[in-house]
Amino acid sequence: KLHPKTLFVGQNQVFLPNCHSTNDIASQYTERDDNYDGLLVYTDFQSAGRGQRGTVWLAEPGQNVMMSVVLNTSYLSVNKQFDLSIATALGVYSGLNSLGVQDLSIKWPNDIYWQDKKLGGILIESSIREGKLKSSIIGIGLNVNQRDHLPERAVSLALAGYNYSRDEVICALCEGLEKHVLLLKKGYDLKQEYYSVLLGYQKERSFLSEGVTFQGVITGIGERGELLITSDHSKKKFDIKEISFCF
Ligand code: BTN
Repeated sequence: KLHPKTLFVGQNQVFLPNCHSTNDIASQYTERDDNYDGLLVYTDFQSAGRGQRGTVWLAEPGQNVMMSVVLNTSYLSVNKQFDLSIATALGVYSGLNSLGVQDLSIKWPNDIYWQDKKLGGILIESSIREGKLKSSIIGIGLNVNQRDHLPERAVSLALAGYNYSRDEVICALCEGLEKHVLLLKKGYDLKQEYYSVLLGYQKERSFLSEGVTFQGVITGIGERGELLITSDHSKKKFDIKEISFCF
C-alpha cells in the first residue's frame, strides 16, 4: 500500500498488476457508487492505455506511472472544465517539483515537459449532468524508469538523471494534485501560476497550423482554454487540434 500525505487523494487505492486502462477501471467505480472522491487506481501495465485525442499511450511493464484519480467535480460548471485541466497539470508539476525535479514546464494544454521533451501526459474524462460536471477521472501517465523504446521526443525521469521509485512518484503526484484541486474548489484562480510554468509563455517561438509554420508569442489562454498567440501584430486563437509546437 502507498502512503501519500493527503486528506483524500490516494487514501483509497486499487492496484492492478495489469488492466486495459486505469481510466476505464476508475470510471467503473464511479458508476457503482457516488462516494469515490480521491480513489486512486494504478497499475504495472495497461494493454489499452489511452492518450488525448484518440491516441494510444504505451509504456513498458512496471517502470512507469499509470494512474487515475477519481474526483467529485460537481462544484464545476461545464464551461469551467479547463480550470480542472489547469489544476491537474499544476498538481503534477508541483508534485514532481517537490521531489526536486528541475527544468519542468507545462506544454499547453496539459502535457508535462522536461526541457523540450515530453515526460508525461494527462487524460481527463468527466461525466456531465445538467450543465455541471459530476465526476472526473484524472488519468496520468508519466515515464519514470523506462530507458528504452520511448517515442521520439519523449523522456523519462531516469533518462533525465533522476532516480525515483515509481511508487514515490505516485505519492508525490497525489499530494500535488490534492493541493491544487483544493485550491480550485476554494475558487482560487490558478491562471497566473499556470502561466508561470507554461512552455513558451511570452516568448517568441514557432508553431505549425494548417500546414503553415509561423512565429508567434503565447500571450495567454482563452475562456474555454484556447491558446492565444500574437503573431505579426495580430491576435489568434487556437483550439487543440488546430495547432502544434515546432521544436
Ligand atoms: C496524453 O498525453 O495524451 C495523455 C496520456 C494519459 C495516459 C494515462 S496512463 C493512465 C491513464 N489511463 C489511460 O488509459 N490513460 C491515462
